[in-house]
Amino acid sequence: MAPQNPNSRTRRKPARSSAARTLARPAQMPTRTASPASPNAVIEFRGVSLRYDNGHAGLDQASFAIDRSDFVFMIGSTGSGKSTVMRLLIKELEPHEGTIRVAGRDLSSIPRRQVPFYRRNLGVVFQDFKLLPNRTVYDNVAYALQVTGHSRREIREKVPDILRLTGLSTKLHNYPDQLSGGEQQRVSIARAFVNHPPLLLADEPTGNLDPETSIDIMRLLYRINRTGTTVLVATHDHAMVDKMRRRVLEISRGRVVRDEAAGLYQRDESTREFATRMRATGERPEGV
Ligand SMILES: Nc1ncnc2c1ncn2[C@@H]1O[C@H](COP(=O)(O)OP(=O)(O)O)[C@@H](O)[C@H]1O
Ligand SMILES: [Mg+2]
Repeated sequence: MAPQNPNSRTRRKPARSSAARTLARPAQMPTRTASPASPNAVIEFRGVSLRYDNGHAGLDQASFAIDRSDFVFMIGSTGSGKSTVMRLLIKELEPHEGTIRVAGRDLSSIPRRQVPFYRRNLGVVFQDFKLLPNRTVYDNVAYALQVTGHSRREIREKVPDILRLTGLSTKLHNYPDQLSGGEQQRVSIARAFVNHPPLLLADEPTGNLDPETSIDIMRLLYRINRTGTTVLVATHDHAMVDKMRRRVLEISRGRVVRDEAAGLYQRDESTREFATRMRATGERPEGV
């Protein structure tokens, strides 16, 4: 274990939502953490290992950092450890070794009762959408706001906005089984982003989609990234990652084996280039 950070000790005390505040106000992100890799890191894994009960290594001494507003692909074949990274980030699992920091805060310092507040700062998108089958598109998204205590008025304002952003304005009364796979994934992204979390995690978001729809979904995630949200996408779809040309972290057998951080693509240049390429591909959803 890394030494306890005295600052996180004091930050931990005052309020149950301190983790939430730390994340919600990026300008005030703490920088006085114990030997931070980068003061801008939103996600930092240091020597993180996790073994499952059956002896399988989920992660093995994994270290990497992701800065605020980055768009990063985490690639690796099935079983390489991508979902383990995601599950650690949402605190569904605890590492056996190493340190994980999100917005400078050591996740091991977040007490169990604060975990729901911490999770409000994360948008999470899965391969199988996880929509409520008996609720309409509108209600699926509204539900995410209800559980975080938003008023009816706020819900009436926010849901149409996010449905416009995700290109779903004409589908709000549809039920999930009346939507295509791509549309269902848009709903799940709308739901994940309606609270405007500073960090969006997507675990194989295009795993059930055809290549063209996959590009569409990635464009949507990229648009969300441009609002300032840090986006981490796990995928084993090399072809798509090649098309997108963003930073790539590759995991193999629980270890980070490749990190093309600033290597292949110069960040500013590639962002412009990427935006141009995205504008050139097909029709754009509403509200751009
Ligand atoms: N719940 C679990 N119980 C036991 N082993 C698991 C569990 N989840 C994942 N693993 C194992 O951990 C390793 C990493 O899995 P995972 O993180 O799901 O990889 P990926 O998402 O890249 O396919 C694999 O060897 C997998 O079999
Ligand atoms: Mg997985």
